[in-house]
Amino acid sequence: MIGRVDGTRISITGLGSYAPERVLTNHELAQMVDTSHEWIVERTGIRERRIARPDEAMTDLALPAARQALEQAQVDPASVDLVIVATVTPDTMFPTTSALLADALGASDAAAYDLLAGCTGFMYAVAQAYGMLAGGLSRRALVVGGDVLSKIINWRDRRTCVLFGDGAGAVVLDRVDGGGFVGFELGADGAGGIHLSLPGGGSRTPTTAETIEQEKHFVQMNGPEVFRFATRVLVSSAEKLLAECGRSIDEVDVYVPHQANVRIIDHAARKLGVPEEKVVINVDRYGNTSSGSIPLALADAAADGRLRPGALVLMTGMGAGLTWGSSLIEWTDGVAA
Ligand code: ACO
Repeated sequence: MIGRVDGTRISITGLGSYAPERVLTNHELAQMVDTSHEWIVERTGIRERRIARPDEAMTDLALPAARQALEQAQVDPASVDLVIVATVTPDTMFPTTSALLADALGASDAAAYDLLAGCTGFMYAVAQAYGMLAGGLSRRALVVGGDVLSKIINWRDRRTCVLFGDGAGAVVLDRVDGGGFVGFELGADGAGGIHLSLPGGGSRTPTTAETIEQEKHFVQMNGPEVFRFATRVLVSSAEKLLAECGRSIDEVDVYVPHQANVRIIDHAARKLGVPEEKVVINVDRYGNTSSGSIPLALADAAADGRLRPGALVLMTGMGAGLTWGSSLIEWTDGVAA
């Protein structure tokens, strides 16, 4: 799916993020599995990640991020009529995290649902919220991307446990007078889905004592295949979108790729021709937070002053499904129309 925005201008008018307090370092991981700080840094760029407490679930990460975003947008939570939470680690399959979140915020008139698109979830959710606002169905949307992957990781599997972390980000979407979203490109390749999966617990393989014994409730990943996929789609999705929107890569001021691995990001930036100073990287501090990755990176870019009004921001996510998604946005100053 690809589309260039025309007509109604819609933008991000508030941004918030939250990561659990607990920092897990590579050195600690080296005490748990057969790995080393040096291997992890060299192959992934990750130095540490945040890990939720046993009693912390997705709603607990989403709530502070959402409150911060609403505060920044200077809007009453009750005025939000759409809440989408992109996550593969909801508190429970149902009730949904989004419904629990809307209730906790006091967004009592909001439609609320969770969205599953792996690490691309945030990009899919933002595109959906854009469509709801542009189509006149929603007046104001709250989109959260986040995951508590530490709860579905096999902490004895060194091929996966060193890569992931927990975190969430939230954005408020509103109509604006100028600037805002320029276009979206989203895609999926189910044939490649096998390379990144959580096989147990669904309707194909319901939970039994045997599925637990066989460790089917943990993330399974073919690292090299996912690496190849990621390096390919980060480039192709961004190029397709830029062409559709009639923009060149030189016009992009801030590049926010999914934070999975510094080598993947470096490869994509090099192929696309984005200079280092325009690339946002925080995977070294958070690891791969799945749907939380892009909004957490946006929050970092905002904190260091890169998201100035008028800046053209390119975001691209990719992940389980396999899925990918890009968006171009002309950053606005946060004032809704
Ligand atoms: N510590 C030490 N050695 C390790 C570790 C580790 N943590 N993990 C794997 N190795 C070993 C392997 O066992 C292998 O050893 P062998 O040759 O004796 O069998 C060796 O390192 C090389 O393994 P590769 O998998 O080929 O290593 P590679 O350099 O490709 O790096 C990595 C692996 C980092 C996982 C890489 O493939 C990668 O980043 N893949 C993409 C992962 C990713 O981004 N996934 C998320 C996508 S987004 C989402 O939706 C979740």
